[in-house]
Amino acid sequence: MQSSASLKNAIAAFMSRLSLNMDVLKNYIQDKYYRLVAILGLGGIGKTTLAKKLAQQLKDQFQYVIWYSLCNCPPITDTLADLIKSISSQQREELSDNVDEKIEHLIKYLQDSRCLLILDNFESVLQSSSIPEQYLRGYQGYSELIKRVGESSHQSCLTLKKHIALSQKWG
Ligand SMILES: Nc1ncnc2c1ncn2[C@@H]1O[C@H](COP(=O)(O)OP(=O)(O)OP(=O)(O)O)[C@@H](O)[C@H]1O
Ligand SMILES: [Mg+2]
Repeated sequence: MQSSASLKNAIAAFMSRLSLNMDVLKNYIQDKYYRLVAILGLGGIGKTTLAKKLAQQLKDQFQYVIWYSLCNCPPITDTLADLIKSISSQQREELSDNVDEKIEHLIKYLQDSRCLLILDNFESVLQSSSIPEQYLRGYQGYSELIKRVGESSHQSCLTLKKHIALSQKWG
């Protein structure tokens, strides 16, 4: 059994690693060069907690900080419509049904305002056992969203969080 001193040391080491991760992530997100940041880790390791702290600490540097959970597997069109609605301050806009056009519309907002978009539970739209990762049937639009946000020129950052299975970590 571990002595209380060695347990304390282990907890201190863990906490200092967390704060180091936090500083690294903060630098990535603050730096306008990084338009996409992924936080990956085993289930329950503290990704959501870390991202909430980051959002809190960085909120003054962004005009919009939007937290969006994919845990109920929303179709990409719903996600895009909700994100656009949040960034456009709930304005009612006629949105195309076309996913590409909606992504383009969102990117215009990401160019006009500095936004921090956080997509939590990203693993929900992926097939759980496939390596390399594949999207659920009908969810390929998320891949296009990630690709276009990463490739387009804008001043915002999309952060996605997903847990990885042990087999993916060590495999
Ligand atoms: N730095 C920390 N110190 C102590 N407890 C923590 C810390 N970070 C997270 N926790 C606790 O660990 C639990 C899991 O955290 P969290 O929900 O952030 O994990 P997660 O990686 O997002 O999990 P999942 O992959 O299931 O979404 C929570 O109860 C949280 O309060
Ligand atoms: Mg989480």
